[in-house]
Amino acid sequence: MSAKSIEDPRVIVALDFPGGREALQFVEQLSPGSCRLKVGKELFTSAGPDLVRQLVTLGHDVFLDLKFHDIPNTVARACEAAAQLGVWMVNVHASGGRRMMEAASVAVQNAGGRKPLLIGVTVLTSMGPEDLAEVGVQADPAEQVERLARLAKDSGLDGVVCSPREAARLRTSLGDDSMLVTPGVRPAGASTDDQTRVMTPADAMRDGSDYLVIGRPVTQASDPVRALEMINAEIRDVI
Ligand code: C5P
Repeated sequence: MSAKSIEDPRVIVALDFPGGREALQFVEQLSPGSCRLKVGKELFTSAGPDLVRQLVTLGHDVFLDLKFHDIPNTVARACEAAAQLGVWMVNVHASGGRRMMEAASVAVQNAGGRKPLLIGVTVLTSMGPEDLAEVGVQADPAEQVERLARLAKDSGLDGVVCSPREAARLRTSLGDDSMLVTPGVRPAGASTDDQTRVMTPADAMRDGSDYLVIGRPVTQASDPVRALEMINAEIRDVI
């Protein structure tokens, strides 16, 4: 049984599986109308573009979370290749700079077919002030997140990935036309796993998130369809 279809599913289920077989087996239960799917570095490295094509052919919106970061030409070509796979969303590191992001933005617009949303990664949430200082960034993480998010917007990106704790501040500083994509979300009562600062789906949406990246609370649930339905029901009142 698939979860009920909704117009613009806000949950992006992180397919953090070791291989394509496990991922496809899991995805069989999900209807494209109930969620989007995220393919990250582990799964992409093991299962490759064929898996992405299969998911797209099954009617799923795919967020290709490969966080490109390279010289502008290389990132532009990688984004173009992602667009040609038919993905719904792709991302790059905002710290790659304006020219890199502008090149990526032009590439997805000119790739033909459906233009994927292009999202920037600001400061990885695993980085604290000491980690930033060690790579020569003296700003505190929140300040650096805001700087990079503004730069991403100015460079033509559609939005940024951010912690739900940063969402309210970024919503204010970026305005309504930038998308906020937030991991670190846990339904009330769910295990936090290794996430340290979590927010519930409803609170994250209230603070200005547009899309919630949620992995284990759905993928490891005894009834993933039901888990997803509960999250969708929780955010339905907020959107
Ligand atoms: O299982 P869980 O809900 O913690 O999965 C969250 C997903 O979001 C994972 O794929 C993880 O790599 C990703 N992510 C994150 N925190 C970030 C950036 C990405 O948890 N700051």
